[in-house]
Amino acid sequence: MAEYTLSINGQSHTVEASPDMPLLWVLRDRLKLTGTKFGCGQGLCGACTVHLGGEPVRSCVTPVSDVGAKRITTIEGLDLHGAHPLQRAWIEVDVAQCGYCQTGQIMTAAALLAKHPKPTDRDIDQAMGENVCRCGTYLRIREAIHRAAGQRKEVAP
Ligand code: FES
Ligand code: FES
Repeated sequence: MAEYTLSINGQSHTVEASPDMPLLWVLRDRLKLTGTKFGCGQGLCGACTVHLGGEPVRSCVTPVSDVGAKRITTIEGLDLHGAHPLQRAWIEVDVAQCGYCQTGQIMTAAALLAKHPKPTDRDIDQAMGENVCRCGTYLRIREAIHRAAGQRKEVAP
C-alpha cells in the first residue's frame, strides 16, 4: 500500500492504495465517485473514461501510481450543476437508452469539443469510435455533440 494525493474535480484527495490499483476503483470504491462506470475492465469499451490532464483515458487500465500530479476530471466534475453544454444536449436529444455507457461517451465528447469546438461528423466518428454503446445510440450521440457545439443537425431516421 502507498499513499496518493490526487487532484480530482478541483479538490485534493489522499487515498491509500496498491500502486497497481486501477484509478477506476480508487474513484468508485475509495471516493464513492460512482458516475464513472465499469464495463470491460480491459480498456476496450470506454465506459470508464475520465480526463487526466485534459486527455480522455480509460481509468480501468490506468494504475493509480501513474496519475501523479495530473488533474483528474470525472463526470461529477464536468459541471458542478450538470449544466455542461453536452449534458444539456444529451437531455434535449434524449440520447441515453440504458445509460450505462453514457458517462464515458460524454467524457470522450467533452475532450473532443475542447480540441475541436465545431467538429465534423468525421471528427466525431474518429473521436467516439472506440466508445461502445450496446444500445446503439450512436446517431443520437452524434446529434447531441453537434447540438452542444451549436451546430444543430437532424438525426437520420
Ligand atoms: S471499463 Fe474501461 S474501457 Fe471498458
Ligand atoms: S445506452 Fe445502453 S449501452 Fe449505451
